[in-house]
Amino acid sequence: MNQDQLKQAVAQAAIDYILPHLEQRSIIGVGTGSTANFFIDLLAKHKYDFAGAVASSEATAERLKKHGITVHNLNNVQELEFYIDGADECNKHLELIKGGGAALTREKIVAAVAKTFICIADESKKVDFLGGFPLPVEVIPMARSYVAREIVKLGGDPVYRTGVTTDNGNVILDIHNMQITDPRGLEDKINALVGVVCNGLFAHRPADILLLGTKAGVETLV
Ligand code: 5RP
Repeated sequence: MNQDQLKQAVAQAAIDYILPHLEQRSIIGVGTGSTANFFIDLLAKHKYDFAGAVASSEATAERLKKHGITVHNLNNVQELEFYIDGADECNKHLELIKGGGAALTREKIVAAVAKTFICIADESKKVDFLGGFPLPVEVIPMARSYVAREIVKLGGDPVYRTGVTTDNGNVILDIHNMQITDPRGLEDKINALVGVVCNGLFAHRPADILLLGTKAGVETLV
């Protein structure tokens, strides 16, 4: 199985997991990226079984709408049973790095609201220590250089992601060369820098369930 087939397998596993729980009034949160896209395409077959979705990005909202799935404003939604999204890295505690697609802030908001966060990822994403994948940080544009200097003091090498503006009108700094031994502590330290909107560490709100696509099948980690 290639990586896309593994992503498709975990997307199908997420569908199989949530389907028995969906009711006509259910609204689910949907993430961003290629794995989430496989999920959206499979979800479309069941669009009459639930009330719609909240999207974690404009790209995801577009894809959902193309399939005829109603997209709701999060502010009008009382509860989200599930949030389904991919990850750039995950560890055995289900802590994640996200934001490779620059959607980290909205992803973190939707994950915060959801009762159950199901992360779907192929086995290449599982690591012993987070930080091999450069950690994305969403920053207010005028604070970019200041935040970059502060990140250097924390021991990382920030790289400005050129040509990318987030859905919120901000920029992304990717932190390279940081082996993250204390994900919660680092999540706090980066968030405390003035000008930072959000960082891609999902440690305070890790996934609840990780569906990991391996060549031997889909593993469920909780
Ligand atoms: C987007 C994300 C994605 O979940 C992450 O980048 C994984 O993407 P893919 O499923 O394409 O590997 O956090 O901001």
